[in-house]
Amino acid sequence: MLYSSLIVGMLALASCGANVDLPGAAPDEDPKKPEPTETVLKDAPFKVGGAVTVPLLKNNSQYGDVIKAELNSLTSENDMKMNALSTAEGAYDWTNADYTVNFAVENDIRMHGHTLIWYREDALPQWIKEYASDDKDEWIEIMETYIDDVVTYFKGRVDSWDVVNEAFEDDGEWRTENIWYQKIGEDYMDYAFKAARKADPDAKLFYNDYGMEYSAAKRTAICDEVMAMKSRGVPVDGIGIQMHINITSDKSSIQTAINEAALCGGLVHVSELDVAVNPYHVAPDPSLVWTEELAQKQKEMYKHVFESYMTIPAAQQFGITFWGVYDDHSWLKENPDWPLPFDREFEKKPAYDGIIEAITE
Ligand code: G3I
Repeated sequence: MLYSSLIVGMLALASCGANVDLPGAAPDEDPKKPEPTETVLKDAPFKVGGAVTVPLLKNNSQYGDVIKAELNSLTSENDMKMNALSTAEGAYDWTNADYTVNFAVENDIRMHGHTLIWYREDALPQWIKEYASDDKDEWIEIMETYIDDVVTYFKGRVDSWDVVNEAFEDDGEWRTENIWYQKIGEDYMDYAFKAARKADPDAKLFYNDYGMEYSAAKRTAICDEVMAMKSRGVPVDGIGIQMHINITSDKSSIQTAINEAALCGGLVHVSELDVAVNPYHVAPDPSLVWTEELAQKQKEMYKHVFESYMTIPAAQQFGITFWGVYDDHSWLKENPDWPLPFDREFEKKPAYDGIIEAITE
């Protein structure tokens, strides 16, 4: 059954007040709410994480202190991408990835692997970009060997993986400017997920993408494919909604994206949350300055995301991960922007307070 027909049926049931059990969901527990005073982010009823970078882990003690005090899940922003790990066919440099994974393990923090298969040129090693073959079986072998090597190496230390990242366009079509799609075809995702499962039977395996909060076509395409893959016996455990949003993002669409990902079945990871205050998706204003008004709008949006996420069954809540930890290190910083819950001096922002309100009210 296609996801879209499943949605229509379940939303029809829900609209007439029927109690609709989401697929794969345990009965709704009502997790005890922590007290507002002295509550920290990781007191949420699900994992709260951040994307991190090795130079800051190594050289900035405040960065490590905030992570240990506030977070219980980590994602390497760049150090576990193919261009960072694979130095040549069959050759790897684990140094930076190991530093982060060891930090997570030593501090009893969950480690999420990002990302095994991605189309982006700046995340592919040169040897892949230069590999001169159009033989499908050869490329399947390349992909399966890479995934097996990497997932096996981190087995037992990395709990979950973004197996494939960003396979669809915003209009719901397959992303064809994608070496994996071009060399293997639409079934490249099947091979990738099966290879990851074979290497680590215990890891949670995700499909990860952006734009589900603004494109219904993309949401439908992703859920249709995830459900089709499951029907083919492909091991997909959940969907990562990147959630790179801004203070003007549509709140109802954010709730819809989370709900539909949950209806699609399996775990839901808000995997790369940040709330931009500078309209980077159109044309950032280089003269923008941080104001209390922007801070309050950002607070409301962060609070809304956490409140929306808490409406799906607890059993499907894999967690919420910020794409960064503090404003002095963000992919959006130079726009300029201040998209994260901690400011450039690691002080808690109103955004932080909004999250605490969401998890304690
Ligand atoms: O480390 C090198 C440095 O040595 C070199 O001097 C410099 C200039 O060439 O490049 C540095 O590497 C850059 C790296 O970020 C670290 O800063 C890469 O060029 C640059 O491509 C890379 O950008 C990352 C981007 O993904 C592509 O991998 C961003 O930091 C990272 O935030 C961004 O994250 C992505 C997620 O993985 C997927 N979802 C979207 C998200 C935002 O684009």
